[in-house]
Amino acid sequence: MKNKSLVSINDYSKDEYLEILRVASEFEKEPIQDILKGKVIATLFFEPSTRTRLSFESAVNRLGGRIIGFTDAASSSVKKGESLKDTILTVNNYSDLIVMRHPLEGSARYASEVSNIPIINAGDGANQHPTQCLLDLYSIQKTQGTLENLKISLVGDLKYGRTVHSLLIAMSHFNPTFNFIAPDELKMPNEYKMLLDKKGIKYNEYSNLAENIKDSDIVYMTRVQQERFVDPLEYEKVKNIYILKNNMLEDTLDNLKILHPLPRVNEIDVDVDKNKKAYYFEQALNGVFTRQAIIAKILGLK
Ligand code: CP
Repeated sequence: MKNKSLVSINDYSKDEYLEILRVASEFEKEPIQDILKGKVIATLFFEPSTRTRLSFESAVNRLGGRIIGFTDAASSSVKKGESLKDTILTVNNYSDLIVMRHPLEGSARYASEVSNIPIINAGDGANQHPTQCLLDLYSIQKTQGTLENLKISLVGDLKYGRTVHSLLIAMSHFNPTFNFIAPDELKMPNEYKMLLDKKGIKYNEYSNLAENIKDSDIVYMTRVQQERFVDPLEYEKVKNIYILKNNMLEDTLDNLKILHPLPRVNEIDVDVDKNKKAYYFEQALNGVFTRQAIIAKILGLK
């Protein structure tokens, strides 16, 4: 992991996931450490973000490092026509590590190929969100006591949701059974189902939410990704397709935890927030410890 970019969850092995989770649990016990003293981390966000950017910045601040960057491409020289390559080469001069979110699929891989310092992909279009995936693994392991042999329901926008794509790939190392719960328009793409077929991992496809989460250990809700739709009318048809409510959780397993990468729009009723099975705000907190671990491993400090 040292000095290597993290662009896709495929860049790490199963052992490397587990090593990140081990280090993250150390940071959870002791989040304030001065190991980034003298280091500068750049956060280049060409797309909006609350959790990813702020949890990275919180992670760096708690480790004694400094942050530079922008939160909107319009406030950078990209607005004047500067290329991604020139932006990356310039920021190479100012920092030790770049965290980048960009709307174009493949942009993070391209940035990692032109950069002299490691790039962490903080989301590239509908493609990958590997640091979200690692914090999701951390949340699953912490709440279930294991990552092995779990029944996981992925719900909502399985077509454009990059978090579910990364999570499917990572969890495929731990013999899960998946329920894919989505309308026809937003089904899990075939390439991911083929990957599961190749590994002999079981999955079911459903369209009804309430009927199909009763035996799940994890229900992973997702937002319908409005920004990825070409036709606004298509978005209108599916935007409120699933709304998780407390009564749907009545006959579910005691150990069930509801995850959501957030932001939420309407897909989880706010009454569910008080349910002991709701875990999405704790999941967002786990993002700080997990990102501390990722930064420390990439910079060779742990
Ligand atoms: N989970 C996630 O990526 O949230 P943000 O878009 O707020 O960063």
